[in-house]
Amino acid sequence: MNIKIQKTEKSRLEETDFDDLGFGHIFTDHMFMMDYKDGRWQDPRIVPFQDLEFSPALITLHYAQTIFEGMKAYHSKDGKINIFRPDVHAKRINSSARRLCIPEIDEKDFMQALTALLDIDREWVPKKEEESLYIRPFIFGTDEYLGVAVSKTYRFMIIMSPVSRYYKEGLSPISLMTSGEFTRACEGGTGNIKSGGNYASSLYPAELAKEKGYAQILWLDNKEHKYVEEVGTMNILFLFEDELVTAPLEGTILAGVTRDSILTIAKAWGYNVSERKLSIDEVLNRAEDGSLKEVFGAGTAAIVSPVGRISHLGKVVTINNNETGEFSKRIYDELNSIRYGEIEDTHGWNLSI
Ligand code: COI
Repeated sequence: MNIKIQKTEKSRLEETDFDDLGFGHIFTDHMFMMDYKDGRWQDPRIVPFQDLEFSPALITLHYAQTIFEGMKAYHSKDGKINIFRPDVHAKRINSSARRLCIPEIDEKDFMQALTALLDIDREWVPKKEEESLYIRPFIFGTDEYLGVAVSKTYRFMIIMSPVSRYYKEGLSPISLMTSGEFTRACEGGTGNIKSGGNYASSLYPAELAKEKGYAQILWLDNKEHKYVEEVGTMNILFLFEDELVTAPLEGTILAGVTRDSILTIAKAWGYNVSERKLSIDEVLNRAEDGSLKEVFGAGTAAIVSPVGRISHLGKVVTINNNETGEFSKRIYDELNSIRYGEIEDTHGWNLSI
């Protein structure tokens, strides 16, 4: 793929406050774009970060034929940039694409676009511990048409944002509540892909949760409202003594890259890792009898986010005294050490550039 490159005339790097990054507000100098028309992806280009202009009839604005990925790059101790498991993200965007009738991106082109953009904006990768460059690849239909139909044209883009923590709590525990009324996903739906619509429909229940002082919804299965699934912005894991439990990948939850990395590390540490159905009743009962040791969310944006309180149908349990648990901290440190190149990357997860 021959990527045309137009560099910015004036970098915004100098005027960016790296001490106050937050999450997802600041963007690097450049972005990648490529268009799909006449049955093929074409015109790959890197241009200065800028607004887009589209018709009000843009099909995606109406029917949400849009998918995305979230991945991160880290400033490694050896001066290189480590991109964490980009191959898995390249595969996952294509699995999302298939579900929404979006043309797939050749994995080699995905990687080339990613590394070329990152190389141009490498100075934007934050150098402080706990900070990283969040990378957002996304694809959306660009037909100008009000009928409900598969778009014939698309745009694939990558934008990047230097970030610190996603939840203001960082590694301090957040509180979650279940929703008696709403569901995130159902069998045969789109809960296992990263489509914009999944996130739009979670906003209203999440607002209700926030009004009650909870950071997010802990989603239960849609059939029985009984089994824990995920949080929407992250997967969720439960540590009972030496058993680490998370929901199985059966079509309604996202196959998180951080989830998979944690399960792999925990197995290597000797924990019994179970991908099994876990009822909210078991969670509550075992929180009360003390055998539920820790709960934490895991995701690219959130990294590891301990959960200190869970509310379900008016009953509230506290986990680990609402404090950050040892396992959560240990796994967070281990992931960081791999990503920042402080320990050997025995799994081959980093792509260093
Ligand atoms: C991610 O962790 O990258 C996500 O996609 C979650 C999100 C911020 C929507």
